[in-house]
Amino acid sequence: MKIFEEIESEVQSYARAFPRLFHKAEGEFLYDTDGNQYLDFLGGAGTLNYGHNNPILKKALMAYIEDNGITHGLDLHTDAKREFLETLNEKILKPRDLEYMVQFTGPTGTNAVEAAIKVARNCTGRENIIAFTNGFHGVSLGSLALTGNSHHRGAAGVSLNGVSRVPYDGYLGEDIDTTAYLDKLLSDSSSGVDHPAAVIVETVQGEGGINAASMEWLRNLDAVCKQHDVLLIVDDIQAGCGRTGRFFSFEEAGIKPDIVTLSKSLSGYGLPLAVVLLRPELDQWRPGEHNGTFRGNNMAFVTATTAINEFWSDDTFAAQVRAKGQIIEEHLGRIADKYGEGNFTCRGRGMMQGLNCVNGEIAGKITKAAFRRGLIIETSGADDHVVKTLCPLIISEDNLRAGLKIVEDSVAEVLAKVDEVPEERDFFEAAE
Ligand SMILES: Cc1ncc(COP(=O)(O)O)c(C=O)c1O
Repeated sequence: MKIFEEIESEVQSYARAFPRLFHKAEGEFLYDTDGNQYLDFLGGAGTLNYGHNNPILKKALMAYIEDNGITHGLDLHTDAKREFLETLNEKILKPRDLEYMVQFTGPTGTNAVEAAIKVARNCTGRENIIAFTNGFHGVSLGSLALTGNSHHRGAAGVSLNGVSRVPYDGYLGEDIDTTAYLDKLLSDSSSGVDHPAAVIVETVQGEGGINAASMEWLRNLDAVCKQHDVLLIVDDIQAGCGRTGRFFSFEEAGIKPDIVTLSKSLSGYGLPLAVVLLRPELDQWRPGEHNGTFRGNNMAFVTATTAINEFWSDDTFAAQVRAKGQIIEEHLGRIADKYGEGNFTCRGRGMMQGLNCVNGEIAGKITKAAFRRGLIIETSGADDHVVKTLCPLIISEDNLRAGLKIVEDSVAEVLAKVDEVPEERDFFEAAE
């Protein structure tokens, strides 16, 4: 492990929380070089919805490589890209009555967000963007201006402009509809908020602490945007690709955003890929205006196409995700009731759920205790106070329950609510 300390930058983060040397992964499991098995409830921060090395995706990818398929093709038309576009259109967009142009950006989420706000600003001729408290949209400068987290913002080194911040759903308490406040701001020519190009929103805030907006709030937000001629951008980079129990996280609300960003689990295999979906009228780009050498990762197209065909040809997989989401919600709810002394709450939607421990120190101790038991799970939120479950969507029900039991045992240990703390790694030893 010495080399990581010697020459890898201090910027590393997950590696500090899980200081092991990992070398293999399959499905919902990771393995370190000492032969330890870990159940993965982090899932590449939402990138591995179909698990590590999904065998169906791997087979398609291996065949493509074996056949000398194009790996890098800038934004040239390729077979792999054609198939991806056709599949996305036929299996995802058309059945949902969504008409979008597809823009391939640089392959990270933040680059898709940069492109989305750039096109919104250029199309409307306005600079201001409305972003929400606790929102996370990436860390390159344009996206960082939208991101709320002070730790990330503090590293910008320049002022972060062109954004007005509005309270997210629930920020001011359960009964306050913050879209009414936004409506008031946009209706009042002396509010001090410049008429925005767009509103950007996560339907469930992932990094911000698994805050889930209500369907009513999302519909109200959509209505306010329409009323004031403001574009609605849904950043579905973390909540999209099935995480909430539908392909797009906004489907349940019955809204159709003007612009959608997708990345993370889009390739389905952990290969970098990001897109912006745009209403056709908004596709006012001139050739190469938003450029990038790695726009269009052909190997990612192959796995993305396979993932859509395999998991999104009908509602079977989505229904399984919703059922597993229910299991997570019930189990976390029970943990909150049993150990939380009225302080802990459970939050989220589908398989994007969190246990709000109120206190970051307690949440950190819980994830550490879970790691000792063989579970990789992270925190999120302003104070890292929410233990969040982002396990692969394909996880078996038994392993899902086993992971949740580890969370429960870890909570019990940290809060010293049990006389006898369960042995470390007991689940995995029992499974062997
Ligand atoms: C909602 C959302 N938007 C944007 C990003 C940035 O994506 P990336 O880390 O790939 O730049 C993230 C990353 O966590 C995210 O959760």
